[in-house]
Amino acid sequence: MDSMVDPAIENYCQAMTSGESPILAELAQATVDRTRYPVNLSGRLVGQTLKMLLKISRSKTVLEIGMFTGYAALSMAEGLPDDGVVYACETNPRSIAIGQEFFDRSPHGHKIKVLFGRALDTIPEIREKLDLVFIDADKKKYRDYLEMVLPMMNPNGLIVIDDALWKGKVLDPQEERDQVIADLNRYIYEHPNLESVLLPIRHGLNIVRKV
Ligand SMILES: C[S@@+](CC[C@H](N)C(=O)[O-])C[C@H]1O[C@@H](n2cnc3c(N)ncnc32)[C@H](O)[C@@H]1O
Repeated sequence: MDSMVDPAIENYCQAMTSGESPILAELAQATVDRTRYPVNLSGRLVGQTLKMLLKISRSKTVLEIGMFTGYAALSMAEGLPDDGVVYACETNPRSIAIGQEFFDRSPHGHKIKVLFGRALDTIPEIREKLDLVFIDADKKKYRDYLEMVLPMMNPNGLIVIDDALWKGKVLDPQEERDQVIADLNRYIYEHPNLESVLLPIRHGLNIVRKV
């Protein structure tokens, strides 16, 4: 099960969701053409959800953990004011190079600052407080990322965790990765200072707020 909803419904939702600029569509196609695992790309529903959250919360400072070729990074940059910033962590130089080609052509690309290297090493370089964090790399470290960014959040800041339903495997975890995600969802649910909504968007988005 790749999608949490009927593929026909998901396609309809994508078709009726606004917000994919021509350059994002080009970036998605280049990712299909030029990378081995284009399924890693977050895509239109996730990108537009993030962009919408940024606009309604008037966010300015964003961190993405796991940029890949930059689809979500550029989607979020499009939702920020001109002085906004997306810090985007990524370990793969080939993915970064593809993303940077498109950032350089977009009027929003200057807002994206790529942090090359493992996120747990590069995140401490950030000196600003964060309005939104998108966690989308290396599932086994999700809890470490959450703990690292919680003290960095601005009041009302949001942490959005991708793959939170992990192809439905959270219902009956068999492998370590499934269990890590299931445990994290429960940890967040039971945490006295976190409020969350877990939505079946694509592979699952858990939207978390520190209270
Ligand atoms: C699912 S993809 C991210 C998709 C991306 N958010 C998008 O919108 O298309 C996960 C990415 O995380 C990167 N990654 C894996 N481990 C990492 C780490 N420790 N630090 C930073 N990036 C990492 C991988 O190279 C991969 O490109």
